[in-house]
Amino acid sequence: MNQLSHIAIIMDGNGRWAELRNKKRSSGHEAGAKTVREITEFCATHEEIHRLTLYAFSTENWKRPRLEVEFLMKLLDKYIKQELENYLKHNIRFEPIGDLRAFSKQLRETIEMAKEKTAHCDGLVQSLALNYGSHDEILRTVNLLKNNEGDITKEMLENALDCKADVDLLIRTGGDQRLSNFLLWQVAYAELFFTDTLWPDFNAKELEKIIKKFKKVERRFGGLK
Ligand code: FPP
Repeated sequence: MNQLSHIAIIMDGNGRWAELRNKKRSSGHEAGAKTVREITEFCATHEEIHRLTLYAFSTENWKRPRLEVEFLMKLLDKYIKQELENYLKHNIRFEPIGDLRAFSKQLRETIEMAKEKTAHCDGLVQSLALNYGSHDEILRTVNLLKNNEGDITKEMLENALDCKADVDLLIRTGGDQRLSNFLLWQVAYAELFFTDTLWPDFNAKELEKIIKKFKKVERRFGGLK
């Protein structure tokens, strides 16, 4: 059976979930934050899972209306502060990825605070991708390494990326089947699962079903059986 160390999720469908209920898109994001909590807790109690990386805000999401971006920033700040107790209770280390320099001082301080306070936790790593895009991550990494003497090796690149762990299982909710600039280097041999379920409706039960399917897939990593 396949080992499952790293799950990555593209959380899509908050807006449609709200529209279906004649609610504002912001209430879809709020409902989505509750799913983040449920899925994180589920993964934290699954010993085999070491890392959960969630696409929370992409480098492209700044193109959304100003009010929606502001709402998402406030929600992130609130979520991280609220979750601190839960992180500590479940031994979860908070380790965001992405270029955090674009965020307000307040949000950066909240992120730093959660990182510091959970740095000793050695259970699940919950990694929120914040102002994250794979192209941006790879470009920042190459620029960081470009003054090294000699060729850049695979190991050098991997050790300098924001996310240093290969993904085993990538899930996208919301019905679309694309990667949207998420962990392009790290998903090289990931198993990809797409579900029509909108993110606020996704839950631990559906994740369990996906994990069961993942366990049965034959992973060959380019080799033979
Ligand atoms: C996609 O839904 C989701 C996002 C833009 C980001 C994900 C944000 C959350 C899950 C909520 C907050 C997260 C945390 C960690 C507190 P969409 O708006 O693109 O949905 P749509 O495709 O139906 O419009």
